[in-house]
Amino acid sequence: MASEDARHLSIDSSPTVRSLSRAFEIARAFIESRADRAVWPTATLDELRASLGGELPPGPIDSADVVDALARAAEPGIVATTGPRYFGFVTGGALPATVAAEWLTAVWDQPASLYVLSPAAAVVEEVAARWLLDLLGLPAGASVGFVTGCHMANFTALAAARLELLRRAGWDVEADGLQGAPRLRVIVGDEVHVSVIGALRLLGIGSRQVVRAAADDQGRMRPDALAEALAAGEGPTIVCAQAGNVNSGAFDPLDVIATLTSRHGAWLHVDGAFGLWAAASASLKTHVRGVERADSWATDAHKWLNVPYDSGLVFVRHPEAHRAAMSLGAAYLVRSGNEPREAMDWTPESSRRARGFAVYAALRSLGRSGIEDLVDRCCRLARRFAARLIEEPSIQVLNDVVLNQVLVRVVPPAGDADVATRDALRRVQDERICWLGGSRWRGLDAMRISVSNWSTTEEDVDRSADSIVRAVRSPR
Ligand SMILES: Cc1ncc(COP(=O)(O)O)c(C=O)c1O
Repeated sequence: MASEDARHLSIDSSPTVRSLSRAFEIARAFIESRADRAVWPTATLDELRASLGGELPPGPIDSADVVDALARAAEPGIVATTGPRYFGFVTGGALPATVAAEWLTAVWDQPASLYVLSPAAAVVEEVAARWLLDLLGLPAGASVGFVTGCHMANFTALAAARLELLRRAGWDVEADGLQGAPRLRVIVGDEVHVSVIGALRLLGIGSRQVVRAAADDQGRMRPDALAEALAAGEGPTIVCAQAGNVNSGAFDPLDVIATLTSRHGAWLHVDGAFGLWAAASASLKTHVRGVERADSWATDAHKWLNVPYDSGLVFVRHPEAHRAAMSLGAAYLVRSGNEPREAMDWTPESSRRARGFAVYAALRSLGRSGIEDLVDRCCRLARRFAARLIEEPSIQVLNDVVLNQVLVRVVPPAGDADVATRDALRRVQDERICWLGGSRWRGLDAMRISVSNWSTTEEDVDRSADSIVRAVRSPR
């Protein structure tokens, strides 16, 4: 296609430029509509299957026409997750500079694997890595990997932990595998995120082998339970703590946990998919006190940093273990003579998109104060949400709103509160003013609100709170 582009006399008639121009017009209209469009689309699954489906075309179709038809068919099924009233999961919007950086990354089609494949992608990762360690208060010498999301960040960090702990026990897990290896103990909080368990499964540690330390009413790992679990065994041990519970936003007491784990020579991993960003805020960093004492950390850029999907980050205090767990060698994978950081040494993938460009764009466009402001603003808006909702007599907020998460439950004067909560959630979703997901919290149904988008305003929160109150009040 590149040579086809080059054959065109006018650049404007090249297929890539015509397709991009068409995409730009479509994107412009979408962005213009974003603040006011219904958050949840109206098209049914059958309609989407019909408009996007059909047989594989027998031959080529003009590329700009493909873009046009794709957008026409897909847009009725697009959830406005980048809009200001999307509060589902923990979903950031896409900051302006990051969207443009992603487009350029695609136009450049840069893999971030080896320095020789893209010196710019390699250097951008180096620079963004340094900025991130500084911003998050992590050791300057830690290694950094740019992965797809926090699940893979957890996997990468735990692979490094497995390698290092078994190496200390005299076992080379990369060469000899897990069969016959000294047993690894893994202790997690009872409210551990499922992706940590998923990562451990991929590493050969089954979910039934993981020891769960009890959590308190906010979902924080209890230090006494951890101390008991540590004392109950011996041998190479990994402790997985959490900064930011996916439901309540609560933080495990990291400082105390770090003291306990270091006493036992254990590896401390912190899953901070979104909570780690509290470290970038002067008023919130108290929640992550002691975080720098851990051995590894996982977070997301596609959540609170508002970088487009997909983008996760892993940090490891022990670069040799990190590299040894991920690195691959083959004659054709040519390494640079002067040994700059090779991007593929720190992630599970060999080939991957140069997602460092968008992370770099986010950090550079917001700067230190902009990131702090983004984090603080989302938390302020979460508190505003909670304050407005509890004015309604039948609404309860189940968690202490310490971060950007609010758990809402409907408790009617009569009838089943779980059913009332689920009904209200369905009505909120039907009204399409905002979108929230559902969850269970300590055995109770709840609506989950996560304020993570850079463009959300007080007015958006008020409109959304009004929609929730309407849903709670309307008769079943
Ligand atoms: C605490 C925590 N860890 C890990 C993850 C997994 O992140 P991802 O879906 O980006 O891989 C999440 C996602 O919400 C999370 O909240």
